[in-house]
Formats: sequence, C-alpha cells, structure tokens
Amino acid sequence: MQIFLDTADCQEIQKHYSTGLIDGVTTNPSLILKSHRKPDDVYAELKAMGIPDISMEVVEHTVIDMLREAHRLVELFGECTTIKVPCTPDGLMVCNQLAKENIRVNVTLIFSQAQAILAAKAGAAYVSPFVGRVDDNSFGGLCLVKDIAKVFREHMVRTQVLAASLRGVRDVGRAFEYGADIVTMPTGVFEKMYKHILTDKGLELFSRDWEQVKH
Ligand code: G3P
Repeated sequence: MQIFLDTADCQEIQKHYSTGLIDGVTTNPSLILKSHRKPDDVYAELKAMGIPDISMEVVEHTVIDMLREAHRLVELFGECTTIKVPCTPDGLMVCNQLAKENIRVNVTLIFSQAQAILAAKAGAAYVSPFVGRVDDNSFGGLCLVKDIAKVFREHMVRTQVLAASLRGVRDVGRAFEYGADIVTMPTGVFEKMYKHILTDKGLELFSRDWEQVKH
C-alpha cells in the first residue's frame, strides 16, 4: 500500500514527506500551473528532498517529441523519474518504447478497463484511473479501480494500479480495498487520514485524567 501526494506544492510535500509515510509524488500540468513555478524547478526540488518516485507529465504532440522530452527528464532527474503519458495511441507508443528502456511510465487519464489493458500491454509501470472524474460523470470511479485490479490479478500483470483524482478520505481505504497498489491524493485528503472524532475525544479524556495522576 503506497501513498503518493498529488500536488506540485513543494512546501506541503516536504512537510508530509518528513512523516515517513509518503512514497512518491504525482504531478500534472494543472498542478504545476497552480504552483506558479517551472516544471523542472519543481522536479529538482522534489529530487533534492529525496522523493523516490515523481510522476512528470510529457505533453508534446508527436511521439518523437514526447520521447525526446522523456529522455531529457530521465537524463536530468535520474532514478526518481516516472514519465507520465496520456492513454492515447501516441502515448502508448511512447510508453512501449520507454518500457523497453526500463524507464517507469505512468499512463494517465484512464477512464475504462479497456484503456488500462492497453496500457499494461504497452508495459506501463502504473495506470492511473481517475476515480473522482468518473464519479463526477455519474459512474462508479471505485468500481473502475476494482475492475482493473481484478483483470490485472487474474492475468498476473505486473502493471500497478495507481488510483488518482480522489476527492475524499473514504475513497482512499476503498481504493486499496478494491485492489489499488498506490493511491495518490491531495495533501488535504492525506491530512484527514489521521483524523477521527473519537481519537480527539479519547485523547482529550486521557490528557485530562493524566493531569491528575502524573505526580
Ligand atoms: O493525478 C490526477 C489528478 O491530479 C486529477 O485530479 O482532482 O483534477 O480530478 P482531479
């Protein structure tokens, strides 16, 4: 069960990475835009922090350009680089080539089991089903995770299921329960994973009682 943070906010990532509970980071063009920084500057800071797995999206329009950008990123950032490509014919061609070179690829924008099957065939290290965006369109986002994980298990596929676009803490447990290997989430969702009202109430009571017995 690996937990990734889905953000390009380095300060937030540093705060949570220091807990020892975070295994990686996923970024995308929208998250980079929100950080008001250049993508390479964000990746460089994350690498310097020691993040072992950083998804970096390539958005060029041709296979040649996507491959060129992927190789540039791997050259610059090394082992921590995971190349993120969309689930399109070109994206999967790039995935196929990079997988042959032992470069990790995260195939993103997955909205169906069929797309996940193609990405696995292309040698993806990860497929990213977008749970929340499926739910936004009135389908079962978590069922998608379940369907993909089931078919991968039955066929002993090595590609891992990385559940993305999660909207709430409840989805995290469910995604793992349904077979996700990795769940990526905004920092707000990660913070809520610690929280339970009964923990707060219990702690309050124990602290009060401790005051009376400690001396
Ligand atoms: O990792 C994909 C994720 O960033 C998309 O999330 O909330 O924009 O659907 P969202």
